[in-house]
Amino acid sequence: MPFLSDTLARVKPSPTIAVTTKAQELKAAGRDVIGLGAGEPDFDTPAHIKAAGIRAIEEGKTKYTAVDGIPELKQAICAKFKRDNGLDYTADQVSVSSGGKQVLFNALMATLNEGDEVVIPAPYWVSYPDMVLLAGGVPVPVTATLENNFKLTPEQLEAAITPKTKWLIFNSPSNPTGAGYSREELKGLTDVLLRHPHVWVMTDDMYEHLAFDGFEFCTPAQIEPRLYDRTLTVNGVSKAYAMTGWRIGYAAGPKELITAMRKIQSQSTSNPCSISQYAALEALNGPHDFIAQNNAVFVRRRNLVVEMLNACDGITCPMPEGAFYIYPDISGCIGKTSKGGTKIETDEDFCTALLEEHGVAVVFGAAFGLSPNFRVSYATSDAALTEACTRIQAFCADLT
Ligand SMILES: Cc1ncc(COP(=O)(O)O)c(C=O)c1O
Repeated sequence: MPFLSDTLARVKPSPTIAVTTKAQELKAAGRDVIGLGAGEPDFDTPAHIKAAGIRAIEEGKTKYTAVDGIPELKQAICAKFKRDNGLDYTADQVSVSSGGKQVLFNALMATLNEGDEVVIPAPYWVSYPDMVLLAGGVPVPVTATLENNFKLTPEQLEAAITPKTKWLIFNSPSNPTGAGYSREELKGLTDVLLRHPHVWVMTDDMYEHLAFDGFEFCTPAQIEPRLYDRTLTVNGVSKAYAMTGWRIGYAAGPKELITAMRKIQSQSTSNPCSISQYAALEALNGPHDFIAQNNAVFVRRRNLVVEMLNACDGITCPMPEGAFYIYPDISGCIGKTSKGGTKIETDEDFCTALLEEHGVAVVFGAAFGLSPNFRVSYATSDAALTEACTRIQAFCADLT
């Protein structure tokens, strides 16, 4: 009898975490490495949010809480959905978990049966397909191409839906491309969903506040109120509030689904960290002016990287609407050989040679379901980005 489970064999470890770990190892071994792999802001958590966490500790708010969140935080989340998205939810329609990742995982575990299909636009956040597999479902990736700015078309969605489709996972602005769907583009997709009442939508709005150049964020239940009863709207404080380590994500949706997600959480992790919940409460209710300040920095870095990468031989780099990622196409580099002698057959070859020869860590596109590309996270200093892009330019110039 094998010791390890069949479920384990279905999934692979997170490639983004693997790249970050590899870069850290090389750094620890004394190599000059610039890591552009990590999916987290380099900004510190704002002082007023940290202070709320410290206060929670000092006031003894260090015990178990209600499984899916303290009432005050649920109220703040309801207020956030009303304020930012015009959506009405009550506290019993809200679930708080240890990060957006656990919210998504709970929802999939609570709803998927063997063979249920989940439509996932590719390129996708690496965890979606593996979480679907862990929950016993079947991921159905649908490729959104560079020609369509990495966005799924209504025709593609229509063609991907079968009687077995349970969910569409929607993510805008996107990890890994930064692509954001306009109101009209999203309406095209929600119109398709209206024609298929058995399909639910899990919208991952994690990058809602990281939207640039006047891009207007919108979310499915807001665009199409007739989808409200089959939409799970997922969000969290990790990215916009620079709180990745605090581990707080949340969702709102139909009461039955939220109750089912609570049941899963009650038998796995119980409540998210009590201290982090009080910090998240301050994040949602407190001042938000730092978000615009951080975004100005992100825009400057995005422009810098897009410009420098577009100057590389063989790379095409579209301008994303949000998040802090860029997803350059490297078709023009495939089939060439690096100065160090690596034949570049795939985007993984490109990224491995780039790391070994020039010490720049980026994540290869195959991990996100669209090749040949790589993902840059530009949530790091201008100096590091300039140096990294200079090295990528040199690497590409030397390809023969
Ligand atoms: C698209 C997307 N959704 C969800 C998450 C998970 O966020 P959290 O750190 O809150 O679990 C991430 C984190 O990288 C993400 O990029």
